[in-house]
Amino acid sequence: MFDKVYTAMGTPNIALIKYWGKRDEKLILPMNSSISMTFDYSLNTVTSVLFSSRLKSDSLYINGTKQNLNNKDTRERFQIVNHMRRLAGTSKKVLVVSENSFPTSSGLASSASGTAALVYAVTKGLGLHLSGREMSMIARQGSGSACRSMFGGFVKWNKGMRADGRDSYAEQVFDENHWPELVDVIGVATHEKKRISSRAGMKQTVETSALYSERIRDAEKRVSAITKAIKYKDFNTLAEITMQDSNSMHAVMLDTQPPIMYLNEKSMAVINAVHEINEDAGSNIMAYTFDAGPNPQVITTVRNAPKAKRLLMKAGIGEILVSRAGHGPKMLDESKSLINERKLVPK
Ligand code: PMV
Repeated sequence: MFDKVYTAMGTPNIALIKYWGKRDEKLILPMNSSISMTFDYSLNTVTSVLFSSRLKSDSLYINGTKQNLNNKDTRERFQIVNHMRRLAGTSKKVLVVSENSFPTSSGLASSASGTAALVYAVTKGLGLHLSGREMSMIARQGSGSACRSMFGGFVKWNKGMRADGRDSYAEQVFDENHWPELVDVIGVATHEKKRISSRAGMKQTVETSALYSERIRDAEKRVSAITKAIKYKDFNTLAEITMQDSNSMHAVMLDTQPPIMYLNEKSMAVINAVHEINEDAGSNIMAYTFDAGPNPQVITTVRNAPKAKRLLMKAGIGEILVSRAGHGPKMLDESKSLINERKLVPK
């Protein structure tokens, strides 16, 4: 009898009010609350985990490549597995195999969907009974933005005030059926890995940007205002605040020493084109937003999605993905396992 493989699917999220900067590096506590939309399953990470006493050491494979668990970033992210092992009172080693359906590390939140899928699969694999809130607090410690991918629909990550982080968790604000007309049209401007990780980049911003305190000062107000816009399906306001917040984050990135520049010419072309279209339309009919990479995400409504696609193509972006709000992580059946449990290797 072999040990059981547990396989989960997680999805990225796109932050409309973004997290950039921590008040606690170790616990991953943010300087401001953030709000995002979790993607549907068209963009996903599938992660299989196998805890077994037959395994001599932990191993992690991402998109077919064995990861070095001594690498600082990977080791830090993998801490959440140790944390969950402690909760379950086991020291069994684990084999983790993870596959992304979209480009890794290019600002498309692969760390969020990967971490969400990992936390979900490990929770089941270790037989833990954790609430969504508890899982979000664990995911947060792997990669901050991942805590929001533990829920579907529109999700708020409360920054919290406590030093121990127990009030810094994600929660669903509206579910995935609340605003079905909303679409995210995603342009893949590059498959390249980002030059500086978000973890290192945001630390430098907090330490060196003089503009940063301005960004933080109004962040909670933007979170409340955008929550209201989502509640009343007020697209014009949603778009206005989304673009403002993305620009504010990229402004403090540029104000960092040395400056962090994730946007490229294609990103700039998209920014200009969206403002032109909105001006012609007389109100905002689409909004751009960029994470830690040059890939534009254009939030719009189903009706205007073809227009958004044409705009991205005109900016020289050939690869386009589309997502609506999705349900959040789920378990998959055994047929989707990525692990050969007899040989203890990826399939
Ligand atoms: O995924 P992390 O925890 O390294 O942070 C990235 C943060 C942004 O994607 C740039 C913004 C956000 O809130 O998702």
